[in-house]
Amino acid sequence: MAMSPEPIPLYARTDVMQVDPKVIVALDFADPTQAMAFVDRLDPAACALKVGKEMFVVAGPEPVRRMIERGFRVFLDLKFHDIPNTVAQACAAATRLGVWMLNVHATGGRTMLVAARESVARTATERSAPRPLLIAVTVLTSLGAGDVAELGFTEAPESIALRLARLAADCGLDGAVCSAVEAPALRHALGAGFKLVTPGIRPAGSAADDQSRIVTPEAAIAGGADYLVIGRPITQAADPLEALARINRSLEVAA
Ligand code: C5P
Repeated sequence: MAMSPEPIPLYARTDVMQVDPKVIVALDFADPTQAMAFVDRLDPAACALKVGKEMFVVAGPEPVRRMIERGFRVFLDLKFHDIPNTVAQACAAATRLGVWMLNVHATGGRTMLVAARESVARTATERSAPRPLLIAVTVLTSLGAGDVAELGFTEAPESIALRLARLAADCGLDGAVCSAVEAPALRHALGAGFKLVTPGIRPAGSAADDQSRIVTPEAAIAGGADYLVIGRPITQAADPLEALARINRSLEVAA
């Protein structure tokens, strides 16, 4: 069955002035209706949106399409990890959906990473749209030294993360997800231009929740982060719009 092409998303249009918001709001809602009601209150000039596995499994691509139609940049955080052909097909589908950023596990290896990159590039060219950013997941921050040793790795998590980020850069990926604590070392090792996407961000004075190594938005950007993934400090705030505006103002002041 021939599928009709998705419209070119706003972030990809050259006839519209583009803004580059630094904050990516993590939409960690169990209920997609609740998530969309929240999105309706946000301004695409103020933030991008991250859609993860839970919402995607529950609701599929439709909410993503609606967010893109409303002008949002969407980071599809599905962390693909499979054989090269399967990952390439999934990346092509995400590119056709019109997402702005997507990610794959660097531990899928060189052949998988190159297949993903080529698939994204080819699909974007077919749609005459800019390529979405393809980002590597290195070592999950939930894994400690004992966990990686049990998996058979002999290096510390930080040096494995650096090794995997270098591999991703070498395979032509656009950047990596990393802790804001690791961002200065990765920025130093990989130079300008390699995008660093950092979770674990907490504005001064806000609750750490279950994050252990937290960094303020200003410090993360100063340390080399390009984009900040922020969930609960915005989604659970008494006034989410004000919480987001305050973070954006703090970044303008620090710039
Ligand atoms: O609410 P909070 O700001 O802690 O949300 C952070 C978001 O970033 C969540 O969606 C979480 O799954 C994600 N994330 C993370 N740490 C990682 C990778 C992703 O917190 N290492």
